[in-house]
Amino acid sequence: MSNSANHIISVSDLKKIYIRGSEHIHAVDGITLDVNQGDYTAFVGPSGSGKTTLLHLLGCLDNPSAGVLTVEGKAVYDKGKFMNERELTKLRRDLFGYVFQKFYLIPTLTVKENILLPFAFYRKAEADKTADRLADLLGLSHRLSHLPKELSGGEMQRVAIARALINKPRILLADEPTGNLDSKRSEEISDIFCKLNREEGLTIILVTHNHALAESAGKMVELKDGKLI
Ligand SMILES: Nc1ncnc2c1ncn2[C@@H]1O[C@H](COP(=O)(O)OP(=O)(O)OP(=O)(O)O)[C@@H](O)[C@H]1O
Ligand SMILES: [Mg+2]
Repeated sequence: MSNSANHIISVSDLKKIYIRGSEHIHAVDGITLDVNQGDYTAFVGPSGSGKTTLLHLLGCLDNPSAGVLTVEGKAVYDKGKFMNERELTKLRRDLFGYVFQKFYLIPTLTVKENILLPFAFYRKAEADKTADRLADLLGLSHRLSHLPKELSGGEMQRVAIARALINKPRILLADEPTGNLDSKRSEEISDIFCKLNREEGLTIILVTHNHALAESAGKMVELKDGKLI
């Protein structure tokens, strides 16, 4: 039995409907699920099954069309009513770190500068220490003064992960984080997620087509046509 107090994200009958001309696309079609603090969850399913849409809804990057979305006990969306924008911005900033398939590094900034880019709240000296600690954790210490073009794909994705963690999020969201990597680099990223989850207690939700990566997550959630199966 799950205890609602442990739910960091909770969704009930959540829907996202895109309207394209006269067509209504039920991208997320009535999903109910809970994510507990410390969970490591992988969303899998065929192309177009709604994985990215669901991830964006959970990460408060996109607005649901119906249902209920609760994050850390606060209603982000409840049957047509939204949390106010200021609260939402704070939630996105404080709670979530985001990693995407394309790494989105700034080409003119060094690895260290890229990691520090979103740094927001605490003192610069502390952020600097956090960046060094993350670089160490992700095997990037020897690359800190390099530019992205001097890195391998796997290293670029590790920089993107460090950058997603610089503000100490409680939930890491990743969409196809190994989509642009070969199998060896993918394995390295997979090991890093496991380590972050196990050793740092980070809650991780990712979307992947990579079987090994999905297998390494504690929970696998399969989607088809916007529904859980
Ligand atoms: N902005 C949008 N406008 C209209 N339809 C959209 C939009 N984004 C996604 N869709 C549609 O919603 C459905 C779900 O898309 P989504 O991107 O969530 O799938 P996915 O499971 O992430 O697929 P993939 O594995 O290819 O990334 C698809 O039918 C897609 O065409
Ligand atoms: Mg997708």
